[in-house]
Amino acid sequence: MFQLIYISTARPDVDQHEVGRILGSARRRNHADRITGLLVFDGKRFLQALEGDRGLVEDCYARIRKDPRHRAPVTLSEKEIGKREFGDWTMAWSRVDHIDGELPLAEMVDSLVAQTSDPNTRALFRSFARIDRRAA
Ligand SMILES: Cc1cc2nc3c(=O)[nH]c(=O)nc-3n(C[C@H](O)[C@H](O)[C@H](O)COP(=O)(O)O)c2cc1C
Repeated sequence: MFQLIYISTARPDVDQHEVGRILGSARRRNHADRITGLLVFDGKRFLQALEGDRGLVEDCYARIRKDPRHRAPVTLSEKEIGKREFGDWTMAWSRVDHIDGELPLAEMVDSLVAQTSDPNTRALFRSFARIDRRAA
């Protein structure tokens, strides 16, 4: 079992509807390829974990990298894992928003990653959900 985590920057015109379309095709294909994972979008950047058979995950990532709806993908982590950390979802997803300075969806990301066994993976998603976008 192989897991890959990357971060990328969305094209400026990518909105929630477009992310909905991305998720629709992602879930269909991931189901067929037995790929699971988590996609987080903060309105500007994507953070995604993909896991499954190594060859299938690499093919999937190669396809994703060519997708014009985002740019500059940076691989953060690539490793063999004993079992799936995001096994419940063909692609869970979450949007991180600031509302009046609060982070209501940071808790949602926390609950999505709560079951992952790797503290580094958990910390990565949690801190992504808490970056101060106003300072960015
Ligand atoms: C941020 C982002 C995440 C994506 N995640 C996945 C994914 O998990 N699985 C997948 O098959 N395609 C994913 N895609 C879509 C692929 O880039 C590509 O459009 C899709 O695999 C093509 O599917 P189709 O040939 O069925 O239309 C993602 C695209 C973006 C921009």
